[in-house]
Amino acid sequence: MDRRTFMRVGAIGGSIGLIAPQLVLAEPMQLIGAGGLFYTKENPGHWSGKEAGHMPQVMKHVVDEHNTMLHVMTEHKMLSYKHYIVKHVLLDDKLQFLNEKVFNPDEDEPMSEFTLTDYSGTVYVLSVCNLHDTWLTTIEI
Ligand SMILES: [Fe+2]
Repeated sequence: MDRRTFMRVGAIGGSIGLIAPQLVLAEPMQLIGAGGLFYTKENPGHWSGKEAGHMPQVMKHVVDEHNTMLHVMTEHKMLSYKHYIVKHVLLDDKLQFLNEKVFNPDEDEPMSEFTLTDYSGTVYVLSVCNLHDTWLTTIEI
């Protein structure tokens, strides 16, 4: 690499360094893998067309000033262990595990209920299919 090329690469690298932090702040969900590591309604990745049967649907019910219930449902058939929803998972606003419900495909429908106590902020809700990976939605508490 001659000196002129080295200077050009350095200038480009410096520009990217100045721009990249703004991209990180603008799209954090994109950075951690929307459309690849997990899927969303907006980013179904290579599972485009599978959104309706895999997106977790969440309803919030405020029980009292300390407790909020979340009802989670995935509109997916449970075809025994051939094709089914494995579990629902809740993560807090720092992507730390809160709770999960693991399903038996021979007995359960893909529905779960969770009670959050003294929690406010974003909850990430995941629905995991054994064939079509992990789908995410968010809800504010
Ligand atoms: Fe599936």
